[in-house]
Order: sequence, then structure tokens, then C-alpha cells
Amino acid sequence: MRGTARVPGSLPWGNTRFGGGLPYSRLFMDAIRVVGGRPLEGELAVLGAKNAALKHMVASLLAPGTHRLDNVPDILDVEIMGDVLRHVGARCERDGSTLHLEVPERPVPEAPLELVRQMRASILVLGALLARTGEARVALPGGDDFGSRPIDFHLDGLQQMGVHFDLVHGVLHATAPNGIHGADVFLEFPSVGATENLLLAAVLADGKTTIGNAAREPELADLAAYLSKMGAKIDGAGTSTIEIHGVPGLTAAAHRVVPDRLEAGTFALAAAMSRGSVTVSECVPDHSRMELQKLQAAGCTVAVGDDWFTVTGPDRPLPVDLATLPFPGFHTDMHPQMVSLLAVADGTSIVTENVYTARFRYIGELNRMGADIVADGQHVVVRGVEGLSGCEVDGCDIRAAAALTIAGLRADGENLVMDASHIDRGYQDFVPKLQSLGANVERLRS
Ligand code: UD1
Repeated sequence: MRGTARVPGSLPWGNTRFGGGLPYSRLFMDAIRVVGGRPLEGELAVLGAKNAALKHMVASLLAPGTHRLDNVPDILDVEIMGDVLRHVGARCERDGSTLHLEVPERPVPEAPLELVRQMRASILVLGALLARTGEARVALPGGDDFGSRPIDFHLDGLQQMGVHFDLVHGVLHATAPNGIHGADVFLEFPSVGATENLLLAAVLADGKTTIGNAAREPELADLAAYLSKMGAKIDGAGTSTIEIHGVPGLTAAAHRVVPDRLEAGTFALAAAMSRGSVTVSECVPDHSRMELQKLQAAGCTVAVGDDWFTVTGPDRPLPVDLATLPFPGFHTDMHPQMVSLLAVADGTSIVTENVYTARFRYIGELNRMGADIVADGQHVVVRGVEGLSGCEVDGCDIRAAAALTIAGLRADGENLVMDASHIDRGYQDFVPKLQSLGANVERLRS
């Protein structure tokens, strides 16, 4: 492909189905082109967390008036959530990294399939709309690349709080004829989404709710901090037992979204993979503690300050075993990026996926680049190889696309990560940020 005359930023027209290159269908897709071999160097400030900002947007529905959210990344998922809020009657406007949200006295209690299908996190409007209006009609999300992803914990907990559900033509009709009341709910698994849905329903419920075996993710603690600014009474957010004393009403508030530990971790992995040295700033290193610990075990040098860390990659990583777990364990959303690094380790690593046991589509793509990885049940056996070679790979979801771009940073030749628009769902300016650190990478748009 190199040497072919091309319009900068366009797909390589010289490659056709008949010329042995890309099939026609692919010519009209987005791609990220990476040429490996350059160590990343420099500093990068992370933005607010996607997985917090989306929930905060939903939480704003709990109080009428004008809310302000700062440090909100400009990513596709935030745009989709903006559409969900507009659908229920709210206004949502962006000014730089600030979102201004105008919430009506009585939101329309529904989220249609076309929005829920685009983003599963829309299911969180269930708790917020029920709390505000006593009813909600939310299309039931289907499966996705990670498997079926049920919402039974959300529904079981809400039922204990007095909510009735009917499934009508694929739409969940939720009503609370006698209002939502507090309950003592104990989750089977510390599900992030279920904890959040119950929290959103509980802040305006009648009486006290206890969520046992709750998720402890920092984004959830940040959601509780925002709700508290709105007047909610919450104890224990960030621990595995959350107590919520329902209040009659909340008022609009302003909040700054917690830094994105996944963006921080992804650039740490990019530094390590490229044999470079990158300082990630404006982050909370404690939120990435397990990931940084595993990078150290893999031979990286890690320096940590109050709101920054620096990762310097080894010439060749060491093998590391790890298991993904709810926070503070190793984040499942960092699993594909970490496997990219371990793919070139000097030995065999075993990665156990405990959160999403179907999160393996990226493996075949890494193997096309020359990796030697086998998934057996929920275990991934990564036999390290000396080098990877660039080729066309499918960036099948947000983190897989990030992982395959990272793999390209060290690969021999050119790597084309297709379907790159997945990146835009979770990372703002991913390619420009890599370029600012010295990577030979560009976005190709047809
Ligand atoms: C959130 C994050 C996602 C992250 C995940 C785990 C957002 C928008 N997404 O997803 O990026 O990977 O947390 O940290 O914040 N489960 C059930 N029944 C339920 C709910 C969950 O069986 O009712 C299962 C899921 O299928 C999965 C596991 O529990 O296997 C964890 O899911 P959960 O923590 O709920 O993840 P999400 O909130 O969907």
C-alpha cells in the first residue's frame, strides 16, 4: 500500500477486490491507519469519563430546571444520550466541554427502540423516569457483541421497590401504582448499571433503600456526588453497601465529571506497547491502580503523582496473568488493550474474563496480525510472539478498536483498523491525541 499515490485522509483507492486489497464494501468505511515503530513520548490530559457523563445526564432528569455538567467528553455516546434526553422533553446543549441541560417539570416517560438499540446505557432512564413520573416505557435492549447482557438485576430490584412490569411488543411498561418505596435489595453480582438504576429510583422513593453487594466503581461514586449536590441523601457510595434516604424533591445542580480512567489506561497501554514514555495528567491514579500494577508486572516503569502518572514501556514486555473483576479489580474494558501488549510478551499469559464472558471477537483480529492467542471458556491464553505485522483488522467495538490501534503501534508495516467509528463512541480525538504523542497514525474517511 505504501508508495500508492493517495489523497491524504482518504481510503486507498488502489486496492480493490480484484487487486487483492480491500473489498468494495470496506472502501466506504472509516478506518484508522497506523504505521508501527515510533515510541510515543509526551504528556496527555484525560477528559471526563464516558461511563460517568452518560449516567449524570440521565440523573439530571430527576430535578426540573437548568443543570450544568463540566468536563463532558465530546463523543458519540454522549450525543446519543442527548437524543434520549431530547426525546423525553429535555434540552441539551454543548458549549465546549460543558453540557447545559434544561429539564422539564414533567418528562415524557419513554425511551424508544431506535435509541436504546444504539446505546444500552439508555436503559438507565427507567429508574429516573419512574422516580419522576411513576411510569416508564423503555424498549428492551437486545444482545450485542458481548453476549446477551440481561437486565434482570435491574428489574428484580425495582420490583422490590414497588414497580410492576409488563412486556408489550418488545417494550417494557413499568408502573408504580402505589409509588416507589424503599427496599433492602441485595444484588447477585455488583452490576454497575443495576446499582445505578436502583440508586436513581431510590433518591425520590418513599423511605430508606439499601443496596447490598453494590458496584463500587468511581463513576458510580461520582454519580452519587452529583445527586447529593441535587439534594439526595446517600451514604456509602463507592462501598458495597449504599444507603439512600428518599427525599420529596431535588433541585438542579452543577457538577464536574470524574476523569476517565479508561482513557488514562488506554494511553498508558499505548505508551507501553510502543516502547515509549507518556505522562497521563488530570487523572486519578488510584482509579487505575490495578491496571498500573499489572503494567509494572509486565516490566513497565510506572511513576505516580497526585493527579498524573507516567508509564515507560520495556523493550519487550514480561508475561502477566490477570483476571478482570468489578472495581477495584482489573477493568474488563481494559482487557483487549492489555492483551495487545501481552501478545508481544516474552512468555505466556493467562487472562481470565469474569465480567463479559463473550468479549473475545478482537482475538481473531490480533491473530491475523500474527499473535498467538486462544480463548478457552472465559480464559484467554496469550503466547507471546516476537513481533506483529500490520494488516486489515475489524475494530468491532470501542475497546477492541483501541486495542487493535495499540497493536498497530508496534506492528511491522501498516495496520488498518476498519469500522473505526466505534472509537468515536468512547474516545474524543483519539487519533489526534496519538499524533500529538508522535504516533504515525491517521484517520481515513471515505
Ligand atoms: C458498565 C459499563 C461498561 C463496563 C461494565 C463493567 C457503562 C455505560 N458501561 O456496563 O463499559 O464494561 O459496566 O464495568 O457504564 N448482568 C446481569 N444482569 C443484569 C445486569 C448485569 O446478568 O441485570 C451481568 C452482565 O451481563 C455482565 C455483568 O453482569 O456480565 C456486569 O454488567 P454491569 O456491571 O451491569 O455492566 P453495565 O452497567 O452494563
